Amino acid sequence: MRTYPEYLEELLDFLRIPSISTLTEHAQDLKSAADWVATRIRGADIQNVEVFSVDGGHPLVYAERLDNPGAPTVLMYGHYDVQPVDPVEEWDTPPFEPTLREGRIYARGSSDDKGQLATHLFALRDLSRVWGPRWPVNVKLIIEGEEESGGASIEKWALQNADRLAADCALISDTAFLKPGLPSMDYGLRGIAYAELEVQGPGRDLHSGLYGGGVLNPLSALARIIDRLLDLESGRILVPGFYDGVIPVSGLDRDQAARVPFDSGRFLEQSGSPALWGEQGYSVYERITARPSLDVNGLWGGFQGQGAKTVIPSRAGAKVSMRLVPDQDPDDLLRKLEDYVTDLAPEGVTVACRTIHKARGVLMDPSNPFMEAAAGALEEVFGKAPVFTRCGASIPISTIFHVNLGMPVLFMGFGLPDDGLHSPNEKMDISQFYGGIEAVKKLLGRLARFTAGRPIK
Ligand code: BES
Ligand code: MN
Ligand code: MN
Repeated sequence: MRTYPEYLEELLDFLRIPSISTLTEHAQDLKSAADWVATRIRGADIQNVEVFSVDGGHPLVYAERLDNPGAPTVLMYGHYDVQPVDPVEEWDTPPFEPTLREGRIYARGSSDDKGQLATHLFALRDLSRVWGPRWPVNVKLIIEGEEESGGASIEKWALQNADRLAADCALISDTAFLKPGLPSMDYGLRGIAYAELEVQGPGRDLHSGLYGGGVLNPLSALARIIDRLLDLESGRILVPGFYDGVIPVSGLDRDQAARVPFDSGRFLEQSGSPALWGEQGYSVYERITARPSLDVNGLWGGFQGQGAKTVIPSRAGAKVSMRLVPDQDPDDLLRKLEDYVTDLAPEGVTVACRTIHKARGVLMDPSNPFMEAAAGALEEVFGKAPVFTRCGASIPISTIFHVNLGMPVLFMGFGLPDDGLHSPNEKMDISQFYGGIEAVKKLLGRLARFTAGRPIK
């Protein structure tokens, strides 16, 4: 495989920028990361580059080079922000001091998404040198810094600038291979509806000897609410009306799934859990991709320190997120959740349910010429045709590209399942980075043989 050592060096500089979008003290780092991206875009001979912020959010980078009205247009997306690094003591090397070990790049954001997004920028730089003054593909790039914090800047801007973003297809490299050596292309992603529950009991923390037995403890009330969200036996979500808008798992999905060598034994092993769990009547692969799920992501309240403290806490809370499949509407589900938890709240406490963020899921027909072109490019570079998969995670803007802007989205991801996204010791394999650059070049080369909106074979 071709290697690009000088691009690897540049990527390491990008990875040194701690662009954590949820933490306000990193705002300047997000700006630096956006500038790094803008500079690389200009380096690929795209001079029309804008860096701007919507409603004071982290900068969006938008760029375009439209040389050829008869050629197809590709909208390339990536995110330069990363997740927080805690627990930082579990990293073998510091998260923002990228380290090369055993053919891998260890750093926060190496795989999600800086390393992957960089494949686009470097592929364009290489192509700009052979394409010369009139490119055979029109290119638009939109690169954001709020993906990991569920920020809505890009969504708002994309909806307001739909004409500007118009393209024949979108290209996103922010997903993963099914396993090493086996590329996969997602044709569906789940959506998300994320809420925070807060249960208010007494007006202040109370002595549990003096008040215990006389007022309801908000932790007990919260435990009841949490318990009623899921039926642990059937694996069903108990929020009334939760399944109303769910598109059933289709024959096409089952046909596709039959071709996906998903190994539930390996899935169990990778999870480290003692057993599998989930909704009865569905395979593990279906449970985590084509069926919705609900998780408690955090739970707080009361005394967490060493030893004992005899206290009735005044408040308790939980973070609850629901992974949604098409056609579930996040707003509708957040309302249903709120109504349900309000009903469940026993007398003696009040419950508030606040939305943190939300996005609809996306589901596409995998048989379209753009996806075929991407599959061909992946096969050429990685020696194996990709499998078409659905993925349980979310990339909020992809839904806007597909549903609102009406384009097929090519999820051409170069991660591997053991990259440790959002975890300590996140890594990207250097060979995946190099292969990614190569595959993006091949894809754009193939698209150059298409005409606008109408592929020629
Ligand atoms: N790149 C991931 C999503 C992903 C990971 C897709 C692996 C496929 C394979 C993305 O950055 C992510 O973490 N999304 C969040 C979205 C949320 C913060 C709105 C998610 O799914 O939790
Ligand atoms: Mn990502
Ligand atoms: Mn992520």
